This record gives sequence, C-alpha cells and structure tokens, in this order.
Amino acid sequence: MTRMRRNRLIAGNWKMHGLRSDLVEIETVARALGDRREHLAAAGVEAALCVPFTLIAAAAETARGTPLAVGGQDCHHERAGAHTGDVSAEMVADAGARFVILGHSERRRDHRETNLDVRAKLAAARRAGLTAIVCVGETEAERDAGAALAVVSRQLRESLDDRVDAANTVIAYEPVWAIGTGRTPDVEQIAEMHGGLRAVLRDLCEEGEQVRILYGGSMKPGNAGAILSVGDVDGGLIGGASLQADSFLSIVEAAL
Ligand code: PGA
Repeated sequence: MTRMRRNRLIAGNWKMHGLRSDLVEIETVARALGDRREHLAAAGVEAALCVPFTLIAAAAETARGTPLAVGGQDCHHERAGAHTGDVSAEMVADAGARFVILGHSERRRDHRETNLDVRAKLAAARRAGLTAIVCVGETEAERDAGAALAVVSRQLRESLDDRVDAANTVIAYEPVWAIGTGRTPDVEQIAEMHGGLRAVLRDLCEEGEQVRILYGGSMKPGNAGAILSVGDVDGGLIGGASLQADSFLSIVEAAL
C-alpha cells in the first residue's frame, strides 16, 4: 500500500461567538488565504472556520471563491421533522458549510451528548455531504487515573462506524482540561495519544491511515509550530485563537 501524505487542516471553532459585525474577520482570513492559494495547495494545507448556525450562510458567501471553507458546530441526526430549535445536516450543508464539528466536549457537557448520539450525527453529516470533525478527549481526572488513551479509544470506537473514510471524517483530539485553559499536553503526550488514535483508526476503517487527526485545546500561534511538528498531528482545531484573523492566519502559516 502506498502511503499518501495527509493534507493538513486548520479549523477554527468560533463556539458561541460571532455577530454579523465579526464577518470582517472572516473576510480578512478569506482574502489572505486567497493570496496564498498556490502556496497552500502546494503544501497541502486546508483551512476552515466553524461558525454559529446564524453566520454560516453569510460566512460562506464571504469566503466564496477563496481557499477558506466554512463549517457548522453541530447537527441533528434526522433530515427534517418536529424538532423545534434543531438544525439538520442538510440545512447546515444548504447554508454553505462543508464541515461540521460533532461531539465537542462542550456539547457532551451542556447537552449530554453521548458517543451514540455522535455516531448518528456522523451518519447524518455524511448523508448531507459534510465532512464531520469528530471530537474526543479525556478529562483531567481520567488522565490522572492513567485512563486517557482508554477513554479516547472508546469514544472513537463508539462514535465511528465502518463507513468512515478520509474524505467524510476528521478526528479532533481535544483533552477537556486543555480547552480554553491555556494549558496543553506536552508533545510526548500528544504523540502518544495521536499514535494510539491512529492505531484505533487503522483497526476500525480501511482508510484509517489517511483519516486526519487534529489536535485541539489552547493551540495558539506560539505553540502551533511545535504541536504541528508531532507525527500523526494533521492539523488543529482552534477555539479562542480563531476569533481574530491575525492569530488564526499565524496558525495556518505554522502549518505550511
Ligand atoms: P481553545 O478551544 O483553543 O479555546 O482551547 C478549542 C476547542 O474547544 O475546540
């Protein structure tokens, strides 16, 4: 089997931030990436911003014709129906998104999402032609108990199905204790977790070697280069540092 190089993906997660007045950040990112189009393509680096539902259409319009892709942050598993307040994968795609984040730890915490919920949403995202970014990650207590790899491996096994491939699914390893805290695992710990997740992916799906594994949790311009140089780290899922165009663009540059 020939081992193809995996394209890197730098994905921003705006969480519950962003009004129409913040589209100027997206415009700045889109324009800068447009200027770097050939360089990005040659280096195999992709970029996306995952915004609140209310901004997807406007963000997609702003980014149209540039290398910047737009994503959502959740979807319902059904196509349509009596689910007040929910948004289907088809709606997310119809608004112009190419990606959707699924199973972020904040959704697991705030909405009690389980691995089985994530699995159903993953099938929905695929049905709608979206690339899902499936998040897994251990809590600090789980890490302290020496269970980090076992926890994320189980999350992965229960969240994925056998139709996962490198085009429809991306994994994000996000230690819960590193999200929004300014703390990150050291590079050895990241390497160990990504290596462990790679082994699970190989076991679970035919294209396990090609499915990308992003790191997420307090990734910033200052640490992005070191984290992205770890083997099996195929990009980043960036929260706080994706809200400003300049810091997001610095992280994209670090991936080049
Ligand atoms: P952070 O968030 O970069 O602000 O830590 C990452 C995430 O939750 O996706």
